[in-house]
Amino acid sequence: MSLESLRYRRGSLRVLNQLLLPQRSCYEQIGGVRQGWEAIRAMQVRGAPAIAIVGCLSLAVELHGGAGMGQGKAGLETFIHDSLRYLVTARPTAVNMARAAEELGAFTSQEAQREEVTAESLRESVIQWAEAMLEKDLRDNRSIGEHGARHLLQASPQDKVTVLTHCNTGSLATAGYGTALGVIRSLHALGRLAHVYCTETRPYNQGARLTAYELVYEHIPATLIADSMVSVAMKEKGVSAVVVGADRVVANGDTANKVGTYQLAIAAKYHGIPFYVAAPSTSCDLSLAEGAEIVIEERPSQELTDINGVRIAAPGIGVWNPAFDVTPHELITGGIITELGVFRPEELREALTRAVKGV
Ligand code: MRU
Repeated sequence: MSLESLRYRRGSLRVLNQLLLPQRSCYEQIGGVRQGWEAIRAMQVRGAPAIAIVGCLSLAVELHGGAGMGQGKAGLETFIHDSLRYLVTARPTAVNMARAAEELGAFTSQEAQREEVTAESLRESVIQWAEAMLEKDLRDNRSIGEHGARHLLQASPQDKVTVLTHCNTGSLATAGYGTALGVIRSLHALGRLAHVYCTETRPYNQGARLTAYELVYEHIPATLIADSMVSVAMKEKGVSAVVVGADRVVANGDTANKVGTYQLAIAAKYHGIPFYVAAPSTSCDLSLAEGAEIVIEERPSQELTDINGVRIAAPGIGVWNPAFDVTPHELITGGIITELGVFRPEELREALTRAVKGV
């Protein structure tokens, strides 16, 4: 059985508390929107797709319990819109929750306008909408894995490829399978993966705590390196490609992802190593023209100064802790791997627009 970031059945949502990994595997109950927001904010659950799924399912659970049902259809509609607006404020950089809020909000308004729709049937269709996110994300990740693995293998002269990745983009960050880690999983399943290097991903250590955990769990041959070792690994370890995830890919292909991604892309370019971003279309935001417009979340200074509650930095030092950085599109030399295929950054806008129109 593969790892699960969350366990859901109608009326009940539990998320794996990722703050406790790898020491303890503990699922915690999310009773509704406030708890969903808190779990996302505290990073018990993290990763762009998982944030949106947990957010929307926390609303589904609360609706199932009867919330918003007291004041008829209009009251329910208001409750849903308010809840979605609130969930978006938990973390600003990943676009998935904002997109889901926009789409589910529009769906809610549209449904509520239909005369034959009652408060009960509106509630049911909103719950179903949120539930459908789980399956879609899993399906998209499998496609990302297949497209990405095929592209990497075509671009590489080697029979087996070595991949370097950053942060955690696996089952723990999604509904399952993963994005960048999904590509790695697919390569491994094909017997074409030589080795994975995963970065520690300071300051929050998603690589050391979570990706390393997933790789060991899946028996994928892998080695952990500190972020400061990526250039020397590229020089000496036969890295064939770098594959990372994304929190927001904007119209020109500029990509916000875990801080440290930008320097990885610069180092990859210097070494002539293809650099790929793997992300579902739900992580793309065509409403922003370029990366400079993306809001970058800044996290508490303790994430940098302390490890497991023990201070490691000199008291009195100032701290800057941006959680993400933006990789300019020109450094994304391998391509952007989506469920629709692999695109050069300049092709992305048109490909996504065509997909929305269904042409
Ligand atoms: O701060 P996090 O752990 O939520 O950051 C996660 C990342 O940056 C991931 O690379 C991104 O969300 C993609 S997850 C499929």
